[in-house]
Amino acid sequence: MDIDMTNIPKHIGIIMDGNGRWAKRRGLPRTLGHREGTKRVIEIVEACYKLGVKSLSLYAFSTENWKRPEEEVSKLMDLLIYYIENQLEKIKKNNIKINVLGDISCLPSKVRLSVECALNETMHNDKMILNIGLNYGGRDEIIRATKLVAKDVLDGKTNVEEITSKVFENYLYTSGQDELDLLIRPSGELRVSNFMLYQLAYSEFWFSDVLWPDFTEDVLLDAIKDFQKRSRRYGGIDE
Ligand code: FPP
Repeated sequence: MDIDMTNIPKHIGIIMDGNGRWAKRRGLPRTLGHREGTKRVIEIVEACYKLGVKSLSLYAFSTENWKRPEEEVSKLMDLLIYYIENQLEKIKKNNIKINVLGDISCLPSKVRLSVECALNETMHNDKMILNIGLNYGGRDEIIRATKLVAKDVLDGKTNVEEITSKVFENYLYTSGQDELDLLIRPSGELRVSNFMLYQLAYSEFWFSDVLWPDFTEDVLLDAIKDFQKRSRRYGGIDE
């Protein structure tokens, strides 16, 4: 089956899982799995850009990942800086906007500065949005949004009756973006691990045993072809 270019998911989320197992199977340190995983980030961003995906959300570092050994956390931060330094020119050329899901205020300053530079330099781009989940948790995002709404109510900027899901969505990190159409999780785990809990209400899920460092463009195309077979009813019925 060929891909239907008229039915490409507008927003794809990926829980990039399996780097550690990929490395372990080869007798390598986990950090080399993350390094290989970073190469897939580069390829999959490019593939989504070519397909015309409007938003790609990648789960790079969760609010729970701080529990990992310091050396692994530090390597992940270095890879993020490497990715930005190495890819920023291409991202800018391709008119891609970088957006962060999560609170970056407590990241090490060199990472924060690098991310802030990428945010500033791409803020007016509009071909595709690359959301990077960094110190991100879906529950935290919903609590943060709720606090912001409460503050606007207290400040008289809105009132309780006006708060619909459409209004609430404006307080999420993905404000203004298309809904999450397709959530992909490689590595054989069948859970959402606190990723985009609000946004995935009507997402199609696609799971695969492939580990993230083996996740090629062809695997992405398989996921999209499968998505294209789904009947999305949003609680209604087929015509
Ligand atoms: C999960 O695999 C993966 C992560 C926690 C990190 C993902 C980060 C990258 C792919 C690289 C940096 C990101 C960007 C955007 C440049 P795991 O370590 O939990 O694997 P395991 O379940 O096999 O142990």
